Amino acid sequence: MGRVFVAGSINMDVVATAERHPRVGETVAGEAVLYFPGGKGANQAVASAKQGIPTTLIGRLGTDAFGKELRTFLAAQGVDLSLVKDTAGTHSGTAIITIANADNTIVVVPGANGLVDADDVAAPVLTKGDVAVSQFEIPLPAIAAFFRRARAAGATTILNPAPAKQADRALLDLVDILILNETELGALAGTELRDNDTPERFSEAARTLGRGKIVCVTLGKRGVLALVEDQPLLVPGRKVKAVDTTGAGDCFVGALASQLAIGKQLGDGLAYANVAASICVQRMGAAPAMPTAREVEDALSTRRPGEGRDP
Ligand code: RIB
Repeated sequence: MGRVFVAGSINMDVVATAERHPRVGETVAGEAVLYFPGGKGANQAVASAKQGIPTTLIGRLGTDAFGKELRTFLAAQGVDLSLVKDTAGTHSGTAIITIANADNTIVVVPGANGLVDADDVAAPVLTKGDVAVSQFEIPLPAIAAFFRRARAAGATTILNPAPAKQADRALLDLVDILILNETELGALAGTELRDNDTPERFSEAARTLGRGKIVCVTLGKRGVLALVEDQPLLVPGRKVKAVDTTGAGDCFVGALASQLAIGKQLGDGLAYANVAASICVQRMGAAPAMPTAREVEDALSTRRPGEGRDP
């Protein structure tokens, strides 16, 4: 069995819930303020570890109170933190999140995440069959260094280029599987996309990112569209009542990585990850909302007709 290595961000999510989001310049009364462990890297590592797969997180925390809390939480989820460094002189990553009607807005202040470097990602010893995962909340040169090592070891590389930003072709060429939403695909491809665009439109954009990689476009309620050598595979979304979509994409990435690490085929891994994400959105918070393997398997065994099929 392979292992999962996630190089990425660790944040404390400071969440305010309200009836609706404020407009620019407006103040609205909130309902509650909540503190949840988050950060795309940490969320993805928790999602993978909770499937019972050995998962190592590579990243940085500040030496502040949030840092201590985050470390305790992540260790309790079974994530290997031996490569998470405490960094003096900065704060732990912090995300300010507003949630209204299950949707969020997020401002992320990177703090220690912004200091992850090529030396940090040089520590893990990856081997063939392992899965290396990263996102865009740590510096891009560190991601490139991580993926170069992973590729050299024969590991599979997964990039979740979120939050959306431009990246050079050299980085994208190190990626085996890209997992992104339509906005992120648009940002990389230099075009504007909507979640209700056709598979052909997504294929066209994916083609501009270089050949040979699998592109999985997460489409929220619509599910996920995977483009494998230009062939579309649609895994429809599950109808559930979402209370908080924060971290749902991360849940998908971590759950898929875990399934690929145990040698599952892509289609089965996508169906599994899709169900995992549908459980995540029914709970508040990012990292604490990640389901266990048992929960995903129970939901999979009660899968409704039509789920997980080709379009
Ligand atoms: O993807 C969700 C995550 O984005 C949150 O947990 C927040 O920390 C931001 O990084």
